Amino acid sequence: MESKVLPVIQGDYTLKDYDQMVKNFSWEDVEKEFSWHETGLINIAHEAVDRHASSYRKNKVALYYKDASRKEAYTYNEMKRMSNKAANVLLNHSTLQKGDRFFIFMPRSPELYFALLGALKMGVIVGPLFEAFMEGAVYDRLSDSEAKAIITTPELLDRIPLDRLPHLETVFLVGDSIEESDKFVDFNKKMKDASMHFEVEWLDRESPTVLHYTSGSTGKPKGVLHVQEAMVQQLQTTRWVLDLHDEDIFWCTADPGWVTGTAYGVFGPMLAGATSVIVGGRFSIDTWYEAIQDYGVTVWYSAPTAFRMLMGAGVGPMEKYDLSSLRHILSVGEPLNPEVIRWGMDVFKMRIHDTWWMTETGAQTICNFACLPIKLGSMGKPVPGIEAAIVDDQGNVLPPNRMGNLAIKKGWPAMMRQIWNNPEKYESYFMNDEWYVSGDSAYMDEDGYFFFQGRVDDVIMTSGERVGPFEVESKLLEHPAIVEAGVIGKPDPVRGEIIKAFVALHEGYEPTEELEDDIKQFVKKELSAHAAPREIEFKDKLPKTRSGKIMRRVLKAWELNLPAGDLSTMED
Ligand code: PRX
Repeated sequence: MESKVLPVIQGDYTLKDYDQMVKNFSWEDVEKEFSWHETGLINIAHEAVDRHASSYRKNKVALYYKDASRKEAYTYNEMKRMSNKAANVLLNHSTLQKGDRFFIFMPRSPELYFALLGALKMGVIVGPLFEAFMEGAVYDRLSDSEAKAIITTPELLDRIPLDRLPHLETVFLVGDSIEESDKFVDFNKKMKDASMHFEVEWLDRESPTVLHYTSGSTGKPKGVLHVQEAMVQQLQTTRWVLDLHDEDIFWCTADPGWVTGTAYGVFGPMLAGATSVIVGGRFSIDTWYEAIQDYGVTVWYSAPTAFRMLMGAGVGPMEKYDLSSLRHILSVGEPLNPEVIRWGMDVFKMRIHDTWWMTETGAQTICNFACLPIKLGSMGKPVPGIEAAIVDDQGNVLPPNRMGNLAIKKGWPAMMRQIWNNPEKYESYFMNDEWYVSGDSAYMDEDGYFFFQGRVDDVIMTSGERVGPFEVESKLLEHPAIVEAGVIGKPDPVRGEIIKAFVALHEGYEPTEELEDDIKQFVKKELSAHAAPREIEFKDKLPKTRSGKIMRRVLKAWELNLPAGDLSTMED
């Protein structure tokens, strides 16, 4: 491991010659694999499930599901039947129609996947919500999108403020002894009686599919809307990057509340007709290693935070399991530290392949491929068919080794098509109508490898999850003791960053430990545990611009003992 370049060590991969593919590739060739290329009749759930159910993959397992109390397997044919039933339940027990918004707010379970695919069969737009969201976060997303129906569990019901959500007509509940009413429907009971036949809604390539809310540095979370055509890129990257073959057992550890959990937890592998493993419940070292062993996972897609936790636990827990089925490992969500790659080489005798993309890109865009050497610290090279560049603030492409904005040429298949309810915001992502500007800063070296440098804005990545400081600050300001709040990401060896809040108190409040705990609990209860500050520092006053904007950059400089830079706009 002296060299900073890790040579190719795999023998079995789909993308054999990167340079050749970059020259010859066209997305249209991938499209031709789908019958919609000719008929114009599209439905992603048909392509992901029904198509395989009427092929030689009919009795192949599509999904293995496991949590503390359940262990189940569903073939493609069974997935077709269950998603048909789910579509019938949604159709017959709500007013949901093509284009309406339907949210999923529940822990992972097979029912979650049936409901997701069933709704897509109806042409309904699905908004997946991470189960850890609390009332404020749930309210913002359901009200912005005017969701008409939701599926959830009785345990999560009190986080949905029904009285403040006039558009939300129907709540499907998954649980025991559900009391039904005009509003509440017992999902499992209705599933039992539902027909297994359903005629999918045929749509066009620009029809919406999923709506993922994600955080920026300003304002409330934004609804990023994806469309049917994304499937082209999701399928092709599943082949090239995940390197999935028919015999592989694939495990994507992400929750469908985040884009990785839909694009590669559901769509990519199912479009490719692969077998996926879903592990419900919380992260646990033993459960995770056991899942790899018991299912014989061959391809594993996870995140740096998880790898760092496994690494931190040492080889002890690992030695109890047979992990020899693994042949390809990938990572997404935050910078993949060279130490983690070294750990992977050491314990799995394999490279861990970093992939870079975002909710807005809808699918992988810059990746390390099995067929290419890996440069430590680099996110890899653009997926063939994707044009990535480093541009300056005017949109001019910069030469190699210059730091600037990481940008993607507009028009790739999985590109978001709308920010819900906010066309101006959508336009603001594109520079000169040519480049999508990611908000990440990076540089590209002379061999075309991209190196992540940081966010241009103040967005925080904590344990691989994206948190907008503005959302946390707004919540902090609702606490009776707080008069000013500024939130930053503080570097952390395991979580990448943790959330640190600087707060100034109203007169009459004293900075005590109890108050600190109370503030943390307040954000946890209202937003979610992952958005709550892990550290709070009390200040008499926070650094602000003359127009009153909190200067997070100065807070960060305080925290890291760095020079604060230009302070000319700071108030006296
Ligand atoms: O800052 C980058 C970071 O995650 C952001 C996107 O977050 P999200 O939309 O939640 O999607 C995460 C998973 C698709 C990016 O702007 N990020 C993602 N992948 C990497 C990364 N940072 C460094 N290296 C990566 N491989």
